[in-house]
Amino acid sequence: MLRLVSVLVCLGTLEAAVVAVPHVQLDVPHVPAPVQPVIGAVLEQRKAAEPAPVSLPLTKVEADGQRYFLGEMSVGTPGQAMTVAVDITFPLSYVPSINCSDQFCTDHKQYDSAASSTYEADGTPFELSLGQNVSGVISKDAISVAGATVSGQAFGEATAVWNSYALRAPNDGVLALGFGFSVSQEGATTIMGSMIEQGLIGQWLAGIWLGRGDAGGELTLGGLNDDRRSGELAWAPVTFNEEHQSWMASVESLAVGETSICSENCFVTALSTTPYFFMSMDAAKAVNDALGGFDIGAPGVAGLDCSTLYTLPTLEIEAAGRTLEMSPLEYTYIYTLGGGVQMCLSGFVGLPDFDDNVTVLGSLFMQKFYTAYDMDNMRVGFADSA
Ligand SMILES: *[C@@H]1O[C@H](CO)[C@@H](O)[C@H](O)[C@H]1NC(C)=O
Ligand SMILES: *[C@@H]1O[C@H](CO)[C@@H](O)[C@H](O)[C@H]1NC(C)=O
Ligand SMILES: *[C@@H]1O[C@H](CO)[C@@H](O)[C@H](O)[C@H]1NC(C)=O
Repeated sequence: MLRLVSVLVCLGTLEAAVVAVPHVQLDVPHVPAPVQPVIGAVLEQRKAAEPAPVSLPLTKVEADGQRYFLGEMSVGTPGQAMTVAVDITFPLSYVPSINCSDQFCTDHKQYDSAASSTYEADGTPFELSLGQNVSGVISKDAISVAGATVSGQAFGEATAVWNSYALRAPNDGVLALGFGFSVSQEGATTIMGSMIEQGLIGQWLAGIWLGRGDAGGELTLGGLNDDRRSGELAWAPVTFNEEHQSWMASVESLAVGETSICSENCFVTALSTTPYFFMSMDAAKAVNDALGGFDIGAPGVAGLDCSTLYTLPTLEIEAAGRTLEMSPLEYTYIYTLGGGVQMCLSGFVGLPDFDDNVTVLGSLFMQKFYTAYDMDNMRVGFADSA
């Protein structure tokens, strides 16, 4: 019985893992224009007196072996409430359209442009990266988030969501904090860019704090919340690359005990939309074998014997001259099943065709380290969470 439950839980996880692939693609086809000149233009528009940062509380939701940290935003006038995940891999925020008849849309909240007095049509088509099956058109409307209202914001009105995994996702849409200032080749501005242009925040700097246990989290825009971290931030540079414009930061190395995950030309990206560390199949297999991981019938995923966790080695990430350490209890995804039975799933998940040099740091990582995304200085910062 326990075995069956375990497999079901893990299959949910596998599907989550598989579907997360497009979220971590290096290519961001929607931001092909060089970002540098745009950064300069936007920075020049900064007001001398910078407005204070704004913060959005996030709620932790666990479902099907996934862990979500979700916030609320509203679209239109009067505001239509939407529950959103914070996605740093994509520049265009999106919500389901009233015109979408797919089951995902009818099961979630749907934006109705006819009910908003501030709606402006745009009509440029958008589509998420390959395999996610989310598409629609760009529209413009007021978006309120963290107590700030951005007017005329370009966002995606999804008219087709044909994604088996998304069906179970509790969020309606996505608040996009992808790298850059432009949501598309056509040049509409991202929500962060608009907030700066409209004087709602002073700089392209965002911080994410994810609490441990049942605590939720907090997204801060236009600055960081120093009360949510202890100690200095270690800043890892984001290398500007025309093809790979993303929050991919260079770090020195990643290893679990004696087993290396990456030792040269290593890149990491911190995502709150998955709990796991995603890496190549080979890297995950090497680590999970060393941890005594066992096959649970899902490629790239390993179970761990919970009673051995205390004996397992530490994860060490060398970033910007600092060592970020995580204990086995912190890097393992631990489920509590009915009757208080615990199941342990290795946090290290292998994905097919995944770049050897790239590691995704999911919410297990972010529940230990406060993460800052600094566009003005093209860097990502990590500090101990407070
Ligand atoms: C939704 O349908 C209405 C009525 O057909 C149409 O006017 C509007 O442009 C559609 N919106 C989108 C995003 O497809
Ligand atoms: C996207 O659609 C294709 C074709 O219908 C399907 O095979 C694939 O599983 C879908 N992707 C997701 C994530 O559901
Ligand atoms: C990945 O690392 C190898 C050496 O370990 C290097 O040759 C290659 O250029 C790196 N790839 C990227 C994308 O940096």
